[in-house]
Amino acid sequence: GRVALLMGGWSSERQVALWSGQGIEAALKARGVDVTAIDATPEQVLNLGRLGFDRVFNILHGTGGEDGTVQAALQLQKIPYTGSGVLACALAMDKLRTKRIWKAEGLPTPDWLWVEQESDLQRAAQQFGYPFIVKPSDEGSSVGVSKVKRAEDLHAAWLSARGEQGRTVMAERFIAGGAGGHEFTCAILGEEALPLIRIEPEGEFYDYHAKYLSDNTRYHCPSGLDAALENEIRGICLRAFQLLGARGWGRVDFMLDAQNRPWLIEANLVPGMTSHSLVPMAARARGIDYETLCWRILEDTLD
Ligand code: DAL
Ligand code: MG
Repeated sequence: GRVALLMGGWSSERQVALWSGQGIEAALKARGVDVTAIDATPEQVLNLGRLGFDRVFNILHGTGGEDGTVQAALQLQKIPYTGSGVLACALAMDKLRTKRIWKAEGLPTPDWLWVEQESDLQRAAQQFGYPFIVKPSDEGSSVGVSKVKRAEDLHAAWLSARGEQGRTVMAERFIAGGAGGHEFTCAILGEEALPLIRIEPEGEFYDYHAKYLSDNTRYHCPSGLDAALENEIRGICLRAFQLLGARGWGRVDFMLDAQNRPWLIEANLVPGMTSHSLVPMAARARGIDYETLCWRILEDTLD
């Protein structure tokens, strides 16, 4: 059948979703898939059924493509699509509600506050101490995220998290790491948690620049954790993913504290597939090359 590859789109992660899409298009074509890459608009998404596509590979990151909206539009047109369904996408795109679910189920996630107004940041500073994290609850790729180190930086952090759109803002305790570094991710493919990746950004944290533009971010896969700890954490991440009702593929990000305890940060249900991206890196470590990875994600579409 004919496959529509939805890329680009209208979120703040549009550029990332173009990079991801370029890689996937080439990979699927190399596998002989009849694929049409579409720089998606809402109108096109609503017309895919009429255009005769019978399956969608969705690589729209962020608003629209990762929050359940596009998934709902495809479902109404009875077009099978890659990744998770409406509810899981809507939940995972909302970090506040994701954390409530994880906490209620006994999974570790750093303490947080919903920042309804700027003055709530004072409360966060008292509760968490400096540094702490201020971020939008529903963005990706670290858009609008700050690590606040002193009171003078609170206002700027509020403005960048809030954005022109007036986004929902949250504050989160910063997890200080041990000697081995502390930003990690766990890619999920089907029912399997893939090898963990340890990320060593050159700056304060793994921000947009470190994610896509820098060649100085260092990635470690295998992670260097001992096998028992690695397996335990992979299990926690898979459970975190499945608790949201997620399926198909995705990625769970977490921090490791100085006592080697994991703290879940968020789930990404349409994670990056660029040449710098983490899911392809973890797949490679598991012996799954980029083409095969794209094929397996496509194969496992949700009707
Ligand atoms: N939000 C970006 C695309 C990621 O999670 O990889
Ligand atoms: Mg994310």
